[in-house]
Amino acid sequence: GKGEYDHFMLKEIHEQPTSLAQAIEGRIDPENGRIALEDFGPGTFAGVSNVQLVACGTSYHAALYGALTLNQAGVRATALLANEYGVAAPPIDDGTLVIAVTQSGETADTLRALRRAKTNGAETVTVTNVVGSTAAREADETLFIRAGPEIGVAATKTFSSQAVMLTLLAQRIAADRRGEPPADLDSLLPDLAAMPDEIEAVLESSDAAAIASRYRSSRSYFFIGRGLAYPVALEGALKFKEITYEHAEGFAAGELKHGPLALVTPETPVFAVFTGQEDEKTLHNAEEAQTRGAPLVAVCPDGHPACEIADAHLEIPETDPTLAGLLANVQLQLVSYHAAELLDRPIDKPRNLAKSVTVE
Ligand code: M6R
Repeated sequence: GKGEYDHFMLKEIHEQPTSLAQAIEGRIDPENGRIALEDFGPGTFAGVSNVQLVACGTSYHAALYGALTLNQAGVRATALLANEYGVAAPPIDDGTLVIAVTQSGETADTLRALRRAKTNGAETVTVTNVVGSTAAREADETLFIRAGPEIGVAATKTFSSQAVMLTLLAQRIAADRRGEPPADLDSLLPDLAAMPDEIEAVLESSDAAAIASRYRSSRSYFFIGRGLAYPVALEGALKFKEITYEHAEGFAAGELKHGPLALVTPETPVFAVFTGQEDEKTLHNAEEAQTRGAPLVAVCPDGHPACEIADAHLEIPETDPTLAGLLANVQLQLVSYHAAELLDRPIDKPRNLAKSVTVE
C-alpha cells in the first residue's frame, strides 16, 4: 500500500534513496574504481563502435541521459524515440549495440524497435525493471534496474535508476573499448555511492511545495538545462504536464533564444537546472527569460552564482556533473507532485494515460 503517503507517486519519490542503493549494490567498488555489471564479463563491449538507445517517454529521457554520458566517455551514441525508429533508424553495422530502455519491458513501440534492431543484426541489451518481461526475454542481455514495483503512472524512481545504470554501462562500454578503466571513475564512483544520502537530503529539505504554491495558476511552466541537465528539463516538463494537466515545456537552455523566448512572460516561470556543465551560459539564457519578466527558479547548489539573481531556489548538494541532474530531477518531481496536489488531480492515475502502453 501507500503507507504514510497520500499517493504512490510521493511514496515512490521518497523510495529513491533505497531504490538507487539497490541498483548500485554490488555493482560499484569505489575504493578500487571498478564497475561490475554481473552479467557482462570483461571485454564484453570491446567491439562496440556505436550505440543506439531506444525508448519512449520518461525512459527516453533516461536514454538521452545515457547517450550523453556515452558521448562524454568517447563512445558514439544516439538516443532515439522508439516510435520513430521504424521510419528513422540509423544504419546498423558490425559494431552497433542497441539498448532498449523500458521500465515495464512491455512497451509496444520499444519492443518493435528492439525486434527491428535484432533483425538487422545488432547486438541488443535491455535496461528494465521487470524480471521476465518481454524485452528482458528478447534482448541478448539484460540489465535490471532493481527499483522495485512502481505503481504510479508517472515514472519517478525508475528514471533515477535507469539513468544511473546507463551511466555505469557507459563507463563499462568505454572501458572495454579502451581495454582500461576510464580515468574519471575515481571521482564518479564515490559520488555515486553518496547519491542515496544526497537524495535523502533533498527530500528532507526541499522547498518544492512552497514554490509550487507560489507559482500556481501560471500560464505555462518552462524547464531549461544544458548537457545532462537537458534531459532533466525534458523530464521535468513531462512530469509536470502529465500530472497537473498544465502546460509545460522543456528546452535546451541555449534554444530559448531560437524561438521559445517569444512565449516568455511574467506568467511563465522558468525552472533552470544547473549541473556544472557550462553553467555560465545557462545562467545567461535564464537571465534573458527573467529580463522578459519570467520568474526564475534556479535548481542548483547553495552559493551557486544563479542564486544571486534567481527569484526562488531549489537546492541540490554539490556532486559530480554526471550525477547532479538526478538530484535536480528529484526537486522537479516534488514540484510537479505538489502542483498537482494543489489542483486536486488524480495523481497516481492521470487521465488518458496508462502505466504500460502496449499498443503502437
Ligand atoms: O515502461 P516504459 O519505460 O517502456 O514506458 C515508457 C513510457 O510510456 C513511460 O516512461 C511514460 O512516459 C511514463 N509513465 C511517464 O511518467
